[in-house]
Amino acid sequence: MSRRVQHFGGSHTELKLDVVSGYLAAYARALKDKGFRLSYLDAFAGSGWRAVGSATDGQGSLLPEPEAAAGSALRVLRNAERLNRYVFGDANEDNIASLRAAIAEAKSIDPSLPEPEIHCCDANDLVARECTRLRRSSGLIDVDDSLGGLDLRVWAHEGRR
Ligand SMILES: C[S@@+](CC[C@H](N)C(=O)[O-])C[C@H]1O[C@@H](n2cnc3c(N)ncnc32)[C@H](O)[C@@H]1O
Repeated sequence: MSRRVQHFGGSHTELKLDVVSGYLAAYARALKDKGFRLSYLDAFAGSGWRAVGSATDGQGSLLPEPEAAAGSALRVLRNAERLNRYVFGDANEDNIASLRAAIAEAKSIDPSLPEPEIHCCDANDLVARECTRLRRSSGLIDVDDSLGGLDLRVWAHEGRR
């Protein structure tokens, strides 16, 4: 499976990914050892790769060729602060295949990376399923969809173990 490098966002995207990583680390640290089972859900996980230095960042004419950089899903898995459960979804089969390959490659380099659940489905279905699950566990769900038009991530703690 060859890498499907997605073209989206702009120079603000790298900043957004840094903010997500920082938030995730702070969230994990704050709730560590508090007895919660921590989940991470990205319903628009993408192919695992994004183009940087492409024309979409407004500087394309200055840069020779776009390069592939890790997308949000890979970055989250590599975060030093670990959660208990990672759920990635995307509606596009080819993106899901590329994401699976990207994660397998990353895990072959670092076997300690978490093993995520990966679903090829519409974001609405995935979020609805997870909300049902969380409701049953009577936990807290914190939705942050302000970081980008299509991205929706859910930080949730599902109730004490
Ligand atoms: C901007 S890309 C995701 C990028 C990824 N979050 C990252 O930062 O590397 C948006 C993704 O949403 C997927 N998508 C679009 N509509 C969707 C839907 N209704 N349900 C699930 N995935 C969808 C597309 O296939 C695409 O891979």
